[in-house]
Amino acid sequence: MTKIIIDGRTVKARRGATVLEAARAAGITTIPTLCHNDALAPYGSCRLCIVEIANNGRTTIESSCTYPVTEGMSVKTNSPRVIEGRKLVIELFLARCPNVKKVQELAREYGVQDSAVEWGKENEYCILCGLCVRACNEVIKAGAIQFAGRGKNKVVDSPFHLPAEDCLACGSCAFVCPTGIIKLQDRTATAVCTPEGTREKGPAREITNWQIEYPLKTCAACGNPIAPLPMLKKIAEEHCYQMDFFNLCPSCRTYPAVDTDLCTACNACIVVCPAGAAQFVEDGQDQKSHIFTQNCCGCHSCMDVCGWGAIKAPSKCS
Ligand code: FES
Repeated sequence: MTKIIIDGRTVKARRGATVLEAARAAGITTIPTLCHNDALAPYGSCRLCIVEIANNGRTTIESSCTYPVTEGMSVKTNSPRVIEGRKLVIELFLARCPNVKKVQELAREYGVQDSAVEWGKENEYCILCGLCVRACNEVIKAGAIQFAGRGKNKVVDSPFHLPAEDCLACGSCAFVCPTGIIKLQDRTATAVCTPEGTREKGPAREITNWQIEYPLKTCAACGNPIAPLPMLKKIAEEHCYQMDFFNLCPSCRTYPAVDTDLCTACNACIVVCPAGAAQFVEDGQDQKSHIFTQNCCGCHSCMDVCGWGAIKAPSKCS
């Protein structure tokens, strides 16, 4: 552990932790952040999380989300220099994105009335925090969107501003975006009029920003949408699931259970299970089939194939 002083209080921080992590672990939750997300690598673009750090006789202003703790350092999270710095950052955000709710809230909290900076563009909604790009790259590993352009023309976009071919429509970008600029819409089935007549268009997810629209897989039992097809295909590929695994939504799945008194360990359920959920487990001196419900896709193939009536589906999963 590393001993540091935060706002006059000595705290112990995990070796290698950032100042922000150390502060939060010590119960200090007043450091504002915009571009930080615990699930993503530190990025340090918004500079809102700045703190004043005294170390080896030098005092500097650093972004706490990227700065690592070192033994004996002293951190001030709310000094006048820090507050002035944050106000300046908020003023710049206010110049770029005057209508973004999160920016307005910060401006109110820090008493920033207006921005003296001329941005020259009207009502940008993207604060360029990069959360969407990083979530897409680091977590989803799709790399469907990137930064493009420079300076005040910098934007987040799909490659060459064409429909984002690599997008899985998972919606992680919209989920992490603090401003709501990413427009994601799940549409129900609609009738479309074409010169050839009216045809039915299945449910789909549309993300306007990346110019994509993908069909949503629906539950074979209740008909409710489950998730976009490209996303399910990627999960199936990575985790070696058959696509059948996604035939039922979680609410409609039932978990088969094995009656070990009737199971003869004939292996049929294990062979037929498309999700690898049926496996042998030790049962005293014997082996018996067991259905691991976390993998079960609810297809009931095991029940159908069991010639001993040993597999039953007693309950719905919640
Ligand atoms: S939260 Fe630290 S720089 Fe953005």
